[in-house]
Amino acid sequence: MDETLFPHLCAAPAPGFATLADQAAAAEAWETPRWAIAAILDVEIMTAAILDPCCGAGALTVAAEDYGYEVLAMDLYDWGFSARTGVDFLTLKTADLPERFQGGDFTVLMNPPFSRACEFVDRAHALGARKIVCFQRLAWRESGRRRAWWDARPPARVWLCGDRAHTWLFTIPPQDRKGGRFMPTAWFVWERGHKGAEIGGTIWRNKS
Ligand SMILES: C[S@@+](CC[C@H](N)C(=O)[O-])C[C@H]1O[C@@H](n2cnc3c(N)ncnc32)[C@H](O)[C@@H]1O
Repeated sequence: MDETLFPHLCAAPAPGFATLADQAAAAEAWETPRWAIAAILDVEIMTAAILDPCCGAGALTVAAEDYGYEVLAMDLYDWGFSARTGVDFLTLKTADLPERFQGGDFTVLMNPPFSRACEFVDRAHALGARKIVCFQRLAWRESGRRRAWWDARPPARVWLCGDRAHTWLFTIPPQDRKGGRFMPTAWFVWERGHKGAEIGGTIWRNKS
């Protein structure tokens, strides 16, 4: 996959931020690793329509479109990618969505800020999403503080990223990406109507 797909961000920082880097730190704007996106798109079939509610620089949207999905991308901040900015997903209502997304026949594919991830999943459920596929640090699932939340919403599947993911704030250009944040991550999948055990699997950077 092309690691230099988004070498630039052409947006100006939002009011209240001196620089785009400040905005990225506040927005927890960590880019999803390309290999992890390709790997989840290989193992999970999405609905034809996908909502990427916090699209950032577009990593998920571009990859899903390459797979032939129709993607509606939006973000609270303007990162120079989506035309739908200033949209707070946590207050979004069904009536705010295009008609195609009002019957619930869509997937929410996302990598939300860690600190708000539970709220993002709850909002996706409230909007009636048929499927929710969420990238997050594994620590999200481990936490005792969120135990009741997880008990009430068991995912259908959890795909552990076998190769730990290096992630960078997407304001850091590819040529400067050394080191990065190196941590266990996974994709968490909810499906409407799912009953039964939570299944675990592992995805890898290289298929074999
Ligand atoms: C971890 S980044 C993920 C970006 C991109 N989707 C990716 O996978 O590389 C989180 C994104 O959430 C956005 N965000 C934060 N709070 C938000 C909110 N309340 N509503 C919509 N987007 C939000 C940030 O601006 C940032 O782009």
